[in-house]
Amino acid sequence: MKFTVAIDGPAAAGKGTIGRAVAAHFGFAHLDTGLLYRAVGMRALEDGRGILDPHWAATIARRLRPEDLEVPGLRSAVAGRAASKVAALPEVRKALLKFQRDFARREGGAVLDGRDIGTVICPEAEVKLFVTASDEVRAERRWRELGGDYEAVLADVRARDRRDSERAAAPMRMAADALLLDTSDLTIDAAVAEAVAHVQSRFDAVRDRP
Ligand code: DC
Repeated sequence: MKFTVAIDGPAAAGKGTIGRAVAAHFGFAHLDTGLLYRAVGMRALEDGRGILDPHWAATIARRLRPEDLEVPGLRSAVAGRAASKVAALPEVRKALLKFQRDFARREGGAVLDGRDIGTVICPEAEVKLFVTASDEVRAERRWRELGGDYEAVLADVRARDRRDSERAAAPMRMAADALLLDTSDLTIDAAVAEAVAHVQSRFDAVRDRP
């Protein structure tokens, strides 16, 4: 059975945690699509050329292999910034499209989290969630995870949101048919429970369809 859960939202809103928990609960595969852009961004930074040359960045994206997603340092702030830059390049997004679509429609169900899953990658997803939280709450989560100066982390979160939502290519948007889940005042368990309940109701509706 094919069943896609699309989870979008800004950085540090809880998409990854919710995505992993939903996937584990239902036995679906999970793809953190931010890692694809982080891996391309890091490669582009390392060779210096890809950050400046969109064609080369797209070549890096086309050559991406599963083991590139295991590289240490992909969760760092540097990788996040590089990811946000290469993610604004239409050629890079195009190069990563098929892999994500194939993943979404694999047998047995899939959860993908990112920025454009419900709007561009998988508009036909059976479930769409838009997970968000206030800027301050998200910055505090990132700061606890990565350390450093809180104000700098907050500025970084805001700059990244701006770049991700104002770019022309597949900007971060909430799909019209997505459920909005604001995790600012929710514990992880409560946010996961809400997401699981929503997915379950959609799953039951699809299963019972004649
Ligand atoms: O979710 P994340 O912080 O790992 O994402 C890193 C960057 O990649 C983010 O700033 C925007 C980009 N991204 C994107 O444009 N589309 C996606 N589906 C996932 C991530």
